[in-house]
Amino acid sequence: MNSDLSGFYKLPVEERVSIIKNQCNLTDSEAETLKDTGCLEKLADMMIENVIGTVELPLGIATNFTINNKDILVPMAIEEPSVVAAASHAAKLARPEGFTASSDKPIMIGQIQLMDTKDNAKQKILKEKGQIERLVNKKDSTLVKLGGGLKDLEVNEYDSDRGRIVVVHLLVNVQDAMGANAVNTMCECIAPFLEELTGGRSVLKIISNLAIYRLAKAEVIWKKEVLGEDVIEGILDAYEMARVDKFRCATHNKGIMNGVDAVMIATGNDFRAAEAGAHAYAATAGRYGPLTHYRKNESGDLVGSIEMPMVAGIVGGATKTNPIARITLKILGVKHASELGEIAACVGLANNFAAMRAMAKEGIQAGHMKLHASNLAMTAGATPDEVPKVTKLMIQEGQITNARAKEILEELRRRY
Ligand code: MEV
Repeated sequence: MNSDLSGFYKLPVEERVSIIKNQCNLTDSEAETLKDTGCLEKLADMMIENVIGTVELPLGIATNFTINNKDILVPMAIEEPSVVAAASHAAKLARPEGFTASSDKPIMIGQIQLMDTKDNAKQKILKEKGQIERLVNKKDSTLVKLGGGLKDLEVNEYDSDRGRIVVVHLLVNVQDAMGANAVNTMCECIAPFLEELTGGRSVLKIISNLAIYRLAKAEVIWKKEVLGEDVIEGILDAYEMARVDKFRCATHNKGIMNGVDAVMIATGNDFRAAEAGAHAYAATAGRYGPLTHYRKNESGDLVGSIEMPMVAGIVGGATKTNPIARITLKILGVKHASELGEIAACVGLANNFAAMRAMAKEGIQAGHMKLHASNLAMTAGATPDEVPKVTKLMIQEGQITNARAKEILEELRRRY
């Protein structure tokens, strides 16, 4: 094995596959599987570097969502069983009223780090707000025409081990984009001006994923008559554990991100940006906490809500290059990135509720294991006709393992 593959990036995909095949002893059929790149056939090689294939994920539709009085079908791309079913079920239990959602203006923060600045850097920068606005807005006249562009400035100062750090925040309205390109370009273009103004030197010029000014919010009421009082109490108990215990809270928020990420991935969005923003926001109060909130209202119904940064775009990047993302955006019927963010927030809330409800009721494994069983049946080599039979038997026996799936499959084939 030699990982020094100089010039690898210049080769056509076929040749790259052939090199990896030889180095890693892949079979002919494995190499052929790699070459089957689906609808990204001509595109993958232009999207990232050193491409040898694509990775597919199941794309499902979460049903039953009513958001702001509108029914919406939500595409979700995820490898984990139960997530799409759980979101759909939670949304069903909230019908007919469904979810109400809203969002802030799409303001992203761009950061410029200045070191070794002379006195009064903060005051000097804030005084030049007008000039800074003119300079950065010149970089993206289209965004400005659409109502976007620089909206405000902030300056933070820190004493660090390497001396004083002045951090300038450009607050940029990025409209329907995720915003990284526009914001990073603006940060880079204004850095020389800030250096001259403050006598300092700039180091980092980059977007922040802690998008505190671009929050999506959603709320939903699950009726007492639908859930049952015991289940509501169980959910409130479960929620309380996430509030007081960071180990539980990480998993609680992970369940939310199951839904959010699945929508991000399905629509070609940067799910790592969503993740980074979500977890950093969960800790902004100085202590890691849940992104959702639950309470009982006067009627004894369960009110669930969520508030989190939502860095989603519907223009630019893979949202446009990936044909599947173009289709999923069409299925969603969203006109603005803010709507997409609101939908993702509702799905996150739905998944979080569904997980707590399942755990408070019958434990998460019951539902999970059904889908796990059919995955095991497929892994054991069952054909689409055989999968339900193998799955059913494993569930009946309560033995959901790889080995049992293989045995049942062999038995079935011997018999028929
Ligand atoms: C699994 O992907 C997600 C859950 O662990 C979330 C939770 O525990 O709330 C079920």
